[in-house]
Amino acid sequence: MQTEINFENQKSLNYTIYIDELQKLEFDRKVAIVTNPKVAGLHLKVLLNMISAKELYVITVPDGEAYKNQKSLDMILENLFNHRFDRSSLLIAFGGGVIGDMTGYAASIFQRGIDFIQIPTTLLSQVDASVGGKTGINNAYGKNLIGAFYQPKAVYIQTPFLQTLQKREFGAGVAEIVKMAVTFDRDFFVWLEQHDLHSQKDLATAIQKSVETKAWVVGQDEKEKGIRAVLNYGHTFAHVIENMTNYSRFLHGEAVSIGMVMANKLAVKLGLLCSKDADKIEQLLLKYDLPVSFGITDAHTFYDAFFLDKKTKNAKITFILPKEIGGYEMRTDIDKMIVLDVLEEFIDEK
Ligand code: GLY
Repeated sequence: MQTEINFENQKSLNYTIYIDELQKLEFDRKVAIVTNPKVAGLHLKVLLNMISAKELYVITVPDGEAYKNQKSLDMILENLFNHRFDRSSLLIAFGGGVIGDMTGYAASIFQRGIDFIQIPTTLLSQVDASVGGKTGINNAYGKNLIGAFYQPKAVYIQTPFLQTLQKREFGAGVAEIVKMAVTFDRDFFVWLEQHDLHSQKDLATAIQKSVETKAWVVGQDEKEKGIRAVLNYGHTFAHVIENMTNYSRFLHGEAVSIGMVMANKLAVKLGLLCSKDADKIEQLLLKYDLPVSFGITDAHTFYDAFFLDKKTKNAKITFILPKEIGGYEMRTDIDKMIVLDVLEEFIDEK
């Protein structure tokens, strides 16, 4: 299966996302695979059998969001300089979102930009992070505050890599699939209700559908000036939850799952979504054991934390809300009292 990502305003950025089509890649140039020890231990041998290059190197950086930082970036760049990479060289990001974001960013700045391709190994990075060219690192001020929009030359999604994925990581990826369906595609949502993504075949179909949706969105709005922001459905709440729990209690997709439920409650209050549909969304998330609740201690503190998000512009919070299932509204005008009312519903009673 293949999906093209066509950029309306810059055709030279177009690329193909291949699903389960990777057999052999041959490069007449220097190539570095950037990965982490965990992914390398599980899958590097398989990948190495598929790749040949003039010179091939493997760069491993420590595993985890805590290492998505300047130090790891410097480590990648130093390797490239030590091996005398030049502007014709290529990077391959082999891992989850952290590896993809860091490798893409390294590619964007090494000698003012070299090619890179994405080979994502987690469900979340396959359906979301690897497509669309958001690259970057975290710093003391927050997540992804340093980075660039820098598109890969291709994305190779291989579903067999998901076989070693832990249950929670699988669920976290499903949350992003649900996100695409709820905001853009009612038929896909109904299909998700009727199928089980633990089936290899159905999972591949869901990945394909999600990637098509994401490619369609990003093709219209690479730099998130408009419709791409809809991909942040659930994220306004999720970022606060992640921040309040020091990024340690929930995986990103799990926080998004709770965030979508919160956004849905707001949408119901505003008459955009009926409570029956909100329940259906919650049921779909629960089917994959995703969390759908978070005990808030104080609604005002939670509300104030929205303003720490880099997406909160000019003191206006942007809420992406489902408009029935399969549609969306982007709202920056919601009265504080209405949001507080929704947050009160999540107050931890204990
Ligand atoms: N993960 C949302 C985006 O790529 O825009």
